[in-house]
Amino acid sequence: MTKPLRKVVFPVAGLGTRFLPATKVVAKEMLPVLDRPLIQYAVDEAVDAGADTLIFVTNRYKHAIADYFDKAYELEAKLAEKRKDELLALVQTVLPKHVRCVFVTQPEALGLGHAVLMAKPVVGNDEPFGVILPDDLIWNEGPGALRQMAKVAHDEDAGVIAVEEVPHEDTDKYGIVATDEAKGRSARIHHMVEKPKPADAPSNLAVVGRYVLPGRIFQLLEETTPGAGGEIQLTDAIDRLLKGDGKVLAHRFEGTRFDCGSKVGLVKATIHFALKDPKLAAAVHEAVAAGRA
Ligand code: UTP
Repeated sequence: MTKPLRKVVFPVAGLGTRFLPATKVVAKEMLPVLDRPLIQYAVDEAVDAGADTLIFVTNRYKHAIADYFDKAYELEAKLAEKRKDELLALVQTVLPKHVRCVFVTQPEALGLGHAVLMAKPVVGNDEPFGVILPDDLIWNEGPGALRQMAKVAHDEDAGVIAVEEVPHEDTDKYGIVATDEAKGRSARIHHMVEKPKPADAPSNLAVVGRYVLPGRIFQLLEETTPGAGGEIQLTDAIDRLLKGDGKVLAHRFEGTRFDCGSKVGLVKATIHFALKDPKLAAAVHEAVAAGRA
């Protein structure tokens, strides 16, 4: 049986500049895809993978995320009084009862690697843990992407990184992996390159926002100095893990990824979920067709 991935880290301390001015006050992770904020999709995926401890790496502007997962006494009392049972159930089930949230802060946005390092006191060194970047929303009818990866990590006793094929001309927007030959959907990574020019890219397999990492990554992160963009990069620490004989697999997950860190990705995700909703599908279809005309 696959051991569940108990702890999942959500680095949400970035500045979200691509959604300014909204992100002056609204955390990017609270932007809705239909009626659910991005962070809810990410948390659901972590819980699906077996997580019971969710670690949010936040900053002083992201209180709304903690508020969202907190109990809303006044709202719940009002909904109960008005017998709005369906809505009451909706607000009471944003988080299953057995799941706890821990909030740690990243005092300065020094990079994704630095944000993950902030979770060390909660995660510890002894067990593998998951990382989800909520702005990569991954939808799958069956098991979520992180659950698929947790199974591979357990079966192969390895770290696992989610990858997706991207057009060759886009390799300079992603971390790109060089791998051995694939077995099924997974392949052992021998090195990673951050944002290579298409001519220099070893493949077109791009890293997307899901990781299952061993606890010892924290020590490597502590030793990592600022890299690309002056930031402490998670990619650099993983690359050192690979050089030190660590086994890390690239996994081509089943599912559709929406890059909701970009405007077009957020719009695509919204249209996707609206077309799946029987109450909205016809009207949205018509609106999209009219927009094209
Ligand atoms: P992004 O590169 O998407 O940056 O970070 P961003 O600040 O969120 O958004 P833009 O590009 O300015 O619009 C990738 C992930 O890493 C987290 C972000 O919150 C996001 O989940 N991150 C990044 C941190 O938590 N801390 C950092 O110092 C940097």
